[in-house]
Amino acid sequence: MSTFRATIGRTVNRKSLAILAGLTSVAGSAVAYQNYNNGNKKNNLKPWGGLAAAPGVHVAEKEAKRDYQEVYNAIATKIRDEDEYDNYIGYGPVLVRLAWHSSGTFDRNDNSGGSFGGTYRFKKEMNDPSNKGLQNAFDFLRPIHEQFPWISSGDLYTLGGVTAVQEMMGPKIPWRSGRVDQPENTVPDNGRLPDASQGASYVRNLFDRLGFGDRETVALIGAHALGKTHYENSGYEGPWGPSPNVFTNDFFVNLLNAHWTLNTNKKGVKQWDNDQGHMMLPTDMALVKDPKYRKLVEEYAKDQDVFFRDFSKAFAKLLENNIKFPDQNKPHYFKTLDEQDL
Ligand code: HEM
Repeated sequence: MSTFRATIGRTVNRKSLAILAGLTSVAGSAVAYQNYNNGNKKNNLKPWGGLAAAPGVHVAEKEAKRDYQEVYNAIATKIRDEDEYDNYIGYGPVLVRLAWHSSGTFDRNDNSGGSFGGTYRFKKEMNDPSNKGLQNAFDFLRPIHEQFPWISSGDLYTLGGVTAVQEMMGPKIPWRSGRVDQPENTVPDNGRLPDASQGASYVRNLFDRLGFGDRETVALIGAHALGKTHYENSGYEGPWGPSPNVFTNDFFVNLLNAHWTLNTNKKGVKQWDNDQGHMMLPTDMALVKDPKYRKLVEEYAKDQDVFFRDFSKAFAKLLENNIKFPDQNKPHYFKTLDEQDL
């Protein structure tokens, strides 16, 4: 049975569409002043400060006319309306995963990859075996993009994750706009996203590449309270816990308290199972085997407020990938549909 709130059946307020009707996309002009090659054509390095320094482009003026809360509301309403997806889990978890995977290719050593260029939209990235199943989130967002054509792909994918976390009763996530679509030759090579069969030192190295320490890493992986693994996507199968569409600290509680057995599943893949039909990936289990990670798991299992606070900060940082946003692009704190009585 779904734990999502019942559909109320009201449609999103479209008043901003009229205001925005005359606006053309800034993506083209932005690319012109975005020196994304940084003098190195081969690597396509991106100086993230390009937007702030842009002469003669009235980003502030254009930004002021864009109502991101309207986009949030459209995504949130669609999540609520299409609640039958994945046996009534709904689209929340897969949207969180798209936001994470479109940011999780980032390499802080050369600023390549990440959410800035919205490169998930290209086949090479979409077809990365690690991204199997995310096409569902992309297809979900397609009509939203048609409704709000001025939003960049990177802004849309990250905003989708923020909306999903908040609508699934998670913490508020501060979110900034300003990512700019980049061309196909900036798509990072496949293989940057984590391999779930690995242990703690692999996880530590991978999250270090993204710019995260242990505390942020453990908080971020707490998102595995949401959704499930699917044979057809990753070869793993099953949900991590009892409420896959409500954001809680259940992942940590379950990881510490359940009795886990290592099994080889029908696809020949090794996963940890308990007697309640929940599962853990080897990388999840690494968080209780490694003593430094384990302390943090214990802290988050005890105190959901601390987890919410740390997750919010780390997720916002993940989605920003060191981008230097224009000064005037202050973080948005979106209202949930409930808070707006929608
Ligand atoms: C070591 C790091 C991680 C590994 C190895 C990993 C691996 C996986 C795998 C194998 C799946 C199952 C995909 C499928 O079969 O459909 C999955 C799902 C998921 N992951 Fe992760 N993940 C990691 C970190 C994260 C982080 C940092 C987040 C978010 C902040 C996240 C959010 C999710 C969500 C929400 C799902 C469920 C998607 C759905 O239900 O469709 N994961 N992850």
